[in-house]
Amino acid sequence: MKILSGIVSLATVAQLSYATAIVAPRDGAHLDYGAVALVAASELLNRGLPDSPTNGYAPGNVSCPATRPTIRNAASLSTNETEWLPVRRNNTIEPMKDLLSRANISGFDAAAYIEKFRDNATALPNIGIAISGGGYRALMYGAGFLAAADSRTVNATGKGGIGGLLQSATYLSGLSGGSWLVGSIYANNFSSVTTLRDGSPGSSVWQFGNSIFQGPKEDGISILNTAEYYKNIKGQVDSKKNAGYEVSITDYWGRALSYQLINATDGGPAYTFSSIALQDNFKNGETPFPVIVADGRAPGDIIVSLNTTVYEFNPFEMGSWDPTTFGFAPTRYLGSKFDGGVVPTSASCVRGFDNAGYVFGTSSTLFNQFILNINGSSSSLLTEALASVLKSIGQDNNDIAQYSPNPFFHYNPATNRDADVTELSLVDGGEDLQNIPLHPLIQPVRHLDVIFAVDASADTEFFWPNGTALVATYERSLNATMANGTSFPSIPDVNTFVNLGLNNRPTFFGCDPKNTTSLTPLVVYVPHAPYITHSNVSTFDPAYDDAQRNLIIQNGYDVATMGNGTVDAEWLTCLGCAVLSRSWDRTETAVPDACTNCFKRYCWDGSLNSTVPANYNPEFKVAGVVVEESGSGKVVPGEVVAVVVGVVVSGLMMF
Ligand SMILES: *[C@@H]1O[C@H](CO)[C@@H](O)[C@H](O)[C@H]1NC(C)=O
Ligand SMILES: *[C@@H]1O[C@H](CO)[C@@H](O)[C@H](O)[C@H]1NC(C)=O
Ligand SMILES: *[C@@H]1O[C@H](CO)[C@@H](O)[C@H](O)[C@H]1NC(C)=O
Ligand SMILES: *[C@@H]1O[C@H](CO)[C@@H](O)[C@H](O)[C@H]1NC(C)=O
Ligand SMILES: *[C@@H]1O[C@H](CO)[C@@H](O)[C@H](O)[C@H]1NC(C)=O
Ligand SMILES: *[C@@H]1O[C@H](CO)[C@@H](O)[C@H](O)[C@H]1NC(C)=O
Ligand SMILES: *[C@@H]1O[C@H](CO)[C@@H](O)[C@H](O)[C@H]1NC(C)=O
Ligand SMILES: *[C@@H]1O[C@H](CO)[C@@H](O)[C@H](O)[C@H]1NC(C)=O
Ligand SMILES: *[C@@H]1O[C@H](CO)[C@@H](O)[C@H](O)[C@H]1NC(C)=O
Ligand SMILES: *[C@@H]1O[C@H](CO)[C@@H](O)[C@H](O)[C@H]1NC(C)=O
Ligand SMILES: *[C@@H]1O[C@H](CO)[C@@H](O)[C@H](O)[C@H]1NC(C)=O
Ligand SMILES: *[C@@H]1O[C@H](CO)[C@@H](O)[C@H](O)[C@H]1NC(C)=O
Repeated sequence: MKILSGIVSLATVAQLSYATAIVAPRDGAHLDYGAVALVAASELLNRGLPDSPTNGYAPGNVSCPATRPTIRNAASLSTNETEWLPVRRNNTIEPMKDLLSRANISGFDAAAYIEKFRDNATALPNIGIAISGGGYRALMYGAGFLAAADSRTVNATGKGGIGGLLQSATYLSGLSGGSWLVGSIYANNFSSVTTLRDGSPGSSVWQFGNSIFQGPKEDGISILNTAEYYKNIKGQVDSKKNAGYEVSITDYWGRALSYQLINATDGGPAYTFSSIALQDNFKNGETPFPVIVADGRAPGDIIVSLNTTVYEFNPFEMGSWDPTTFGFAPTRYLGSKFDGGVVPTSASCVRGFDNAGYVFGTSSTLFNQFILNINGSSSSLLTEALASVLKSIGQDNNDIAQYSPNPFFHYNPATNRDADVTELSLVDGGEDLQNIPLHPLIQPVRHLDVIFAVDASADTEFFWPNGTALVATYERSLNATMANGTSFPSIPDVNTFVNLGLNNRPTFFGCDPKNTTSLTPLVVYVPHAPYITHSNVSTFDPAYDDAQRNLIIQNGYDVATMGNGTVDAEWLTCLGCAVLSRSWDRTETAVPDACTNCFKRYCWDGSLNSTVPANYNPEFKVAGVVVEESGSGKVVPGEVVAVVVGVVVSGLMMF
């Protein structure tokens, strides 16, 4: 329980609540709810590059490049990102023309508009997508959203489909459970959600049926048996320790996660996050720019507050835009002994520290509990290893990821809270309550116009979101010191969210450009809601069979498309209006009437109702999936489904 104290959004984990539908039981065995869609056969299945110089989990010394790695200050974008953006921009033109034409905004020729400004990047819409934390629930809900947004998904560009939004986006961020999704997609060479979901023989990727405690059940390229699995994990982490690096529980956790998320032998111990930058599809601008978020935990602090330093990992750099650290290190050279922003000539350069699993493990340290919970009797080897780490770092630090050597040692000593320590402690990106990774996307240097905030937070008693994450980011933006130039639209209190239903359907914030600065993005909030199944599973549920996984993904797809337009036939039009809104403002284009109507419907209008609401327990938007004898799920629109809600109050959390 210790690490959870002070984390308001998780206060309810002490109550293991569950909701069960009569028609779709929580463990509703084998309804093989077929494919969301199959992915075009032409999709390449090449994986990310193993790039650690040791060819294993341990980092290794390498000779420094001609220009030695340095820490740069955060006043601007990196040269790498600046050079990458126009390459990406070119690739977003056709997808945007296609998506916005399909949006069919009456009286507006979207294709002609995009064509007219195609060579003027500053005029065109700049789109970001942010996937929240929330464990496997967030991974699967976010996966449904991305499947719907991905033009490679079969039918995603059909009637009511939002396919192509992903291809039109410039940035894609993930945090905690959302970082597992983003990390898995990129570590597998930008595989589509449907490819990862459907898996392949001998691969344990996205096999969530066997929990992280047991390891993969497949004995193909991945594994073996539980004992071997533990032994492999321990061996990998030992290799890092033996190479002279401090290890934390997160090393073990990141390795365990990788078996499920990276389609490579033993979870790809040599796969690095920076190797994304070496992949052709990224280099050619065929993917959005991935960013993963973690929080800093300053020395001596146990509770992470809203003004903690927020760190990001991207393929080029790791660091923070905040006025504290205000610097970035090259991701590929993490592990090098930086001092005062340089690697002294006496020190070697190091690569392989930025292991991909370690990065998404860092973003999700809340789940270190998963690995700590491994039963002693199943593996005395691993249990002893974990105990020895806890002994050296202390119980209070069981939820940190240790970045030792600290890349920001002696860097910006006047403001950097971590300047004097040789070990930088990072924790779960949601611990400051900003559970949607908006921070990287509201940086003014990135000029985002519209951000899709995909929220699977478990704020309410039944694990639905209530806007807490948006409120946190808004509040932080009001503190001029911490905001450091960032700007966020006005967000109402959480009671208003529930009373007005803003957490039950997509809602736009910051619609009126006159009520914001030119740097404030429009936020399209896409809260997790029940369409076809009770997808509000507990954050700490560690295992899901394939049928349940597919249903939750499908449910996310339906949230993203509002049931392919069955809930609102104009949803795609309205989404198009949100995407174009800031661009129109800049190019002084009149807002089409169709969009004025959309904005009346989807924009928060500033009204409040702060009365404490009754328990939020939403009904299905479409209908529960009927479990049929044949085993094929069927959606019956309009059907009313009875819901039995059970609440088990238990002192025991999670397991
Ligand atoms: C909203 O969520 C927070 C936790 O994030 C919770 O403390 C609060 O009671 C919730 N309020 C409503 C109205 O759902
Ligand atoms: C695609 O849409 C067609 C027509 O509505 C439908 O028959 C088919 O099952 C859909 N395919 C998938 C994979 O959803
Ligand atoms: C980033 O830019 C630097 C300096 O221009 C260059 O040396 C390096 O190769 C680039 N990194 C990547 C991954 O492209
Ligand atoms: C983008 O495409 C145009 C042609 O449409 C080309 O002239 C330009 O060089 C491309 N820019 C980049 C950075 O690829
Ligand atoms: C590009 O678009 C911006 C509006 O965003 C406008 O101010 C600028 O003049 C345009 N530049 C060119 C070269 O057309
Ligand atoms: C996993 O990797 C193997 C070997 O490279 C490949 O054949 C398979 O298609 C991959 N599976 C997925 C789901 O990407
Ligand atoms: C964070 O902000 C609070 C006030 O909101 C302040 O009391 C506290 O000292 C701040 N913490 C740090 C580390 O700046
Ligand atoms: C952000 O913080 C840095 C470092 O403290 C400072 O130099 C910079 O002026 C700040 N930027 C803004 C816009 O406040
Ligand atoms: C704003 O943040 C600074 C730095 O953390 C903190 O010292 C200050 O108390 C905060 N101000 C308010 C009003 O919360
Ligand atoms: C929406 O379309 C997708 C893809 O064809 C399909 O799988 C899904 O069942 C549809 N949803 C509804 C609510 O009809
Ligand atoms: C407009 O801005 C004011 C002041 O920041 C804020 O109180 C109000 O809620 C905003 N209105 C909307 C609709 O965002
Ligand atoms: C405000 O919300 C409360 C609680 O949900 C509700 O009973 C009340 O009718 C709402 N007030 C207005 C003016 O809508």
